Amino acid sequence: MSSQNKLFELIKMNYPHQHSIDYYAEKLLLSKGEIIGLLQELVDLHYPLNFSNNTVTLTVPMISQSKIQSLLSEWRLPYSSLFFPRIPSTNSKALTDISEFSDRTVLLTDYQYKGKGRLGREWQSPIGSAVTLSLILKPVISGEQAVLFTQLTAAALVQALKPYVSAEIKWPNDIIVGNKKIAGILTETSFNGSQLEGIVVGVGINTSLSKNDISSSLAEKATSLLIETGMHIDPNQIITEFIRSFEVFYREWELTNDSSDFITLCKKASVLIGKEIIVRTGESARLAHVRDINSSGELIVQYTDDESLTPLRTLDFSIRGLSSYI
Ligand code: BTN
Repeated sequence: MSSQNKLFELIKMNYPHQHSIDYYAEKLLLSKGEIIGLLQELVDLHYPLNFSNNTVTLTVPMISQSKIQSLLSEWRLPYSSLFFPRIPSTNSKALTDISEFSDRTVLLTDYQYKGKGRLGREWQSPIGSAVTLSLILKPVISGEQAVLFTQLTAAALVQALKPYVSAEIKWPNDIIVGNKKIAGILTETSFNGSQLEGIVVGVGINTSLSKNDISSSLAEKATSLLIETGMHIDPNQIITEFIRSFEVFYREWELTNDSSDFITLCKKASVLIGKEIIVRTGESARLAHVRDINSSGELIVQYTDDESLTPLRTLDFSIRGLSSYI
């Protein structure tokens, strides 16, 4: 680990306590001038950090691998974590090197600068304002069942966010609060020939994103835990609470092949069931009522022009008649 990364990890572990530059110099066996140089580099890279009057202040709580590891072992969660200070995309890293990672590995970063969203969109956020992680899973299932991981993840996110906000799910992958998106999921698969090699579940959660961080075009569509609660919530707590809920649903599903625990939660938290949507596939757009989510994680819609019930996997769609995000 570089001196810069060691210093920053120490600062993150100490949050919310402030320490002096001398303290860090002594801890890392570096000179005060070297510590100031490293701090200045971090500030130049837009880390939410300032130092003056010999005091170092981290302005928001950030992911600390040591905190995550100790919470994971305290809660006996069989996950290992890998932390990257900066990375283009945790999902891309997970997919590229999937053979090197074991089942239940979580990739974490402070700064993801080429994050991917669903449908080829981008997922970007300033350092310290979002949780960006990828879970690597190596289940013995068919590729077909992989779509269920998005629903399992959505249910686990709703559970993890429950102490702070009442979140809902816009099938298949958006977590929303008060009609605005607070988190998103991108599930990707890796195949070796026809064999499923692994599943990568990417999760982005807007934690300390402030109103000023949101562009005016997204102001009506995006929110964060900070905006909703007025508090900077510890991302380490959210990540481990999410993994804990994920593991409860996942273990049950692995053992019984029964998805009903998390599908029931997805149905309860669904903003689409009972609504009218426009299903867009290519050039065509058809009006449908959303009726249900089935045990395979598919959205069951009833088209108004032929009344048939159709399961939808993933596609482009929008809801008619609402001006807000959904
Ligand atoms: C969406 O809502 O469109 C999905 C967003 C998923 C973003 C996460 S952030 C961590 C992981 N790595 C990526 O490149 N994307 C996902």
